[in-house]
Amino acid sequence: SITVDPDRAGPEIDDAMYGVFYEDINRAADGGLYAELVQNRSFEYDTADNASYTPLTSWTETATGGATGTARVVNDAARLNENNRDYLRLDLHGDGGAGAGYGVTNSGYNTGIAVRAGRKYDFSVWARTENPSGTPLTIGLHTASGSTALATPLRATVRGDRWTKYTGTLTARATDTTGRLAVTAGGGGTLRLDMVSLFPRDTYKGRPNGLRKDLAKKIAALKPGFLRFPGGCLVNTGSHQAYEAPGWERKRSYQWKDTVGPVEERPTNANFWGYNQSYGLGYYEYFQFAEDIGAAPLPVVPALVTGCGQNKATDDPELLKRHIQDTLDLIEFANGPVTSTWGKKRAQMGHPEPFGLDRLEVGNEENLPDAFFARFTEFREAIEAKHPEITVISNSGPDDRGVTFDRAWELNRAAKVKMVDEHYYNSPRWFLENNNRYDSYDRQGPKVFLGEYASQDNRFANSLAEAAYMTGLERNADVVKMASYAPLLANEDYVQWRPDLIWFDNAAAWGSTSYETQRLFMNNVGDQVVPSRASATPSLPSGPITGAVGLSTWATSAAYDDVQVTSADGATLLSDDFSGGDGKWTKATGTGSWQVRDGAYVQSDTAAENTMVTAGDSGWQNYALKLKATKRA
Ligand code: AHR
Repeated sequence: SITVDPDRAGPEIDDAMYGVFYEDINRAADGGLYAELVQNRSFEYDTADNASYTPLTSWTETATGGATGTARVVNDAARLNENNRDYLRLDLHGDGGAGAGYGVTNSGYNTGIAVRAGRKYDFSVWARTENPSGTPLTIGLHTASGSTALATPLRATVRGDRWTKYTGTLTARATDTTGRLAVTAGGGGTLRLDMVSLFPRDTYKGRPNGLRKDLAKKIAALKPGFLRFPGGCLVNTGSHQAYEAPGWERKRSYQWKDTVGPVEERPTNANFWGYNQSYGLGYYEYFQFAEDIGAAPLPVVPALVTGCGQNKATDDPELLKRHIQDTLDLIEFANGPVTSTWGKKRAQMGHPEPFGLDRLEVGNEENLPDAFFARFTEFREAIEAKHPEITVISNSGPDDRGVTFDRAWELNRAAKVKMVDEHYYNSPRWFLENNNRYDSYDRQGPKVFLGEYASQDNRFANSLAEAAYMTGLERNADVVKMASYAPLLANEDYVQWRPDLIWFDNAAAWGSTSYETQRLFMNNVGDQVVPSRASATPSLPSGPITGAVGLSTWATSAAYDDVQVTSADGATLLSDDFSGGDGKWTKATGTGSWQVRDGAYVQSDTAAENTMVTAGDSGWQNYALKLKATKRA
């Protein structure tokens, strides 16, 4: 029975309590939310991103009408710019018949480029040619087999040996998920190409350089109160040096300034999760997306202590100073007036109004609490001195309830940090057993941001356990101020982490059952908790129970502990010892009647006595059953 006490006021629940945590993992950005259809558009793929990569990954040489040539990716003084150094050099032999062409074909992501009949696709390429009479280009869309043209080809002529952007629109005349984009050139001489791009015209909210509509809509349907981005381990791993700085490495932490401005001027980077990230989806696009879905933006910046197994503290005061300044500049980029340096940059990108940033997280899962906290403190002091309106969120490391976790909390508590991020990925059972985790948190201490959590699978039982757990978060809404399931997105062909909230391929997106749990809670955020109590007498669940899992699921309904099933002679047939009691438990003994056959426990609906039957040579056998449970006082 559930007793509700409407006369006692529980904590208020913030409208923005539930949000989403977006990390570029599982191809969540390129090949995912970022609507670009061409993979490796600027030929920057490198073995540092993934051992299997070459600069021509996802590209193949193509020739029509007997034309020949060579296709090479080079990095020389003719490059597009200093941030986009590799480009495709085509040396055309000028042979073949009339209309012959030599070039390359891109295979997109998953099974290919997905197009829909009647939809428009915007093509663009940067090009320069050494041929004084110009180089004719043909841009075609066809199926993987090459048998069907999916659009009337585009034609353009590249003129002059200076980088110029050429654009055009393809209209799909069929629906297909195996599309290929072919760019071929006629005539002779050297042609240089870079940033070969194809975007659906129909992006989320019609934004240029925008987001895949089906995925963005699925996220928007959650009505997230906040958007934490861009990671995760992605943020604080690798070198903290700038692109091409002395001593730089190809694997760099996520540094926001790399990700804004014209897309062709954003340096790509090795993504911690084993692929290349174009940064086409960068900080401006994240802020814009947050605004479009009505979520508060919550960026995470690296704290110069690498986490996620790398466990290294960077000891370089100048570098730390630079990263702190970058963070102050980020606040200016988000909120500053258009007359400020970074506010002006935001306005130039199309958003003169401020984005309304009011919170920011420093670091993610550092496993060196003291080293992290020393650097966090410097960030915090600098930010709070200039921007007292910004909540600076700290974190507790990856080691939930372990030594580093305790130490991180000790430091955060002593320094009166406003909010601390916690992460955990556990079994469904853990979530059922730990519903009361925050009941005992210090009401005067830092607030909690549960930035990442999930029970470890994508089955119905997981979403149910998460739902049960979320009731505990809400009951403690005075302490737990924000919570987000993680990770958010997974392309089914490029998975580094599961479970995930939303799955997709190149043409479709679908939510997990956990997605439905999140949607239910996020679309029905209450105003205030009404205190309630639940109680039950020991009674056995109806219907068949398969093994210990069924029994323990029932027994963890927060009313019982230490469930045992014993035979008449006292042998333990089934026992389960639940942890997490709060010391306020008393013992009670319940009864029930059970049958067991072929290892499956089945409740007997007829036995008057507490009997248990088990399979043997002579059929069913009876056993006395004792159910021992510990009941909440
Ligand atoms: O959500 C996946 C990863 O889990 C995140 O990158 C990291 O913060 C955590 O370990």
